[in-house]
Amino acid sequence: MSTIQPESLADVYANVKTAYAEYFKAEPQFLASAPGRVNIIGEHIDYNGGMVLPAAIECGMGAAFSPNGNSLVRIWDARYQSLAEIDFSKPMAPEKGSWENYIKGVLAELKVAGVAVKGFDACIYSTIPMGGGLSSSAALEALIATINEAVTGRTLDPVDKSVICQRAEHNYAGVPCGIMDQMAVICSKADHLLLINCKDNSSELVPFTNPNLGILVIDSKVHHSLADGAYKQRRDGCEKIASMFNVDTLGDLTMDQYEALLPKVPVELQPLFRHVMTEIDRTARAVELLRKGNYVAFGKLLEQSHESLRRDYKVSCDELDFIVDTLQPLDGVYGCRMTGGGFGGSTIALVEKSKAESIAAIIRKVYSEKFGQEPGVFLTSPMNGASYQAL
Ligand code: GLA
Repeated sequence: MSTIQPESLADVYANVKTAYAEYFKAEPQFLASAPGRVNIIGEHIDYNGGMVLPAAIECGMGAAFSPNGNSLVRIWDARYQSLAEIDFSKPMAPEKGSWENYIKGVLAELKVAGVAVKGFDACIYSTIPMGGGLSSSAALEALIATINEAVTGRTLDPVDKSVICQRAEHNYAGVPCGIMDQMAVICSKADHLLLINCKDNSSELVPFTNPNLGILVIDSKVHHSLADGAYKQRRDGCEKIASMFNVDTLGDLTMDQYEALLPKVPVELQPLFRHVMTEIDRTARAVELLRKGNYVAFGKLLEQSHESLRRDYKVSCDELDFIVDTLQPLDGVYGCRMTGGGFGGSTIALVEKSKAESIAAIIRKVYSEKFGQEPGVFLTSPMNGASYQAL
């Protein structure tokens, strides 16, 4: 029996349908889902206007729902046994630390964007590890925006929808994030990585179809909050460097310019500059290598990306470094790195599927011995972004 297979979407849908019928004493009219995401490479690059390469994953959030004909959004979370009830005809102020902020944020930002909002009753269920750095928050935002598409019958442009969800994150969750997570969970397609140009939010699908390869995700279970300031501090540092050179974002500079400008940057900001510029360069090279099927060289870039995040950007932690250092030399691992904002969360590894179970067994054992708890481990392929269907 597989120990690394995430719960399937079919199971999640079965769960939410049953939970809806029990909770609301009626049959739901629609189903919707929104996946989590990993970032393969291009870390802390979205808000620097460069290219990033995320993918939607097999863990996700499902909903069974029906319009309710009033201005109430009622959401029963069947996994965490919690009800959110929001009247969107009234002002919706965020409350510190509440999961309802993501829902309120999307409803409010839809209204600001001039999109009609309608009431609904929903049961949701998530298989995305909370705090695992796999964008459970972007998934919830995308799910709400997708449910609203179903109940209003108005489909949004996927990039506009992503920007609305990003605004919800900024204004209601207090995280000044880039566009990567929201676009990844909304615009991704199965069997592809999503190459996003964060300068203009355009994107391109990069095929990821080798049947022997998979993405092994390891959740350190060190939970992080990007609202605590360390993320913003990195972002502010990058903006300061960009303003020194009169560019909007560091992504506007070339590698040659970077080399000439590095000595002019205050010493304490040089590591940030180095990470951003070398990561932009690595991401471009990684895409080329992937297109050529050169997984060995591609894996080396994942390794270098982690080193840069660890030493220069300083967003890793002992647990993530331990997972990377353990996996890197193992047979069947092409490359491994932390994924997402960091300070905890998850790592990803490009692995041979046939070796994934044994790699998972090794990391579970040594990680538990060292840190006293088992990491979460699952294997995924790139999946589709958020969608809905009528029942
Ligand atoms: C978080 C943010 C993203 C991105 C990553 C780091 O996930 O939400 O916008 O900046 O961190 O790459």
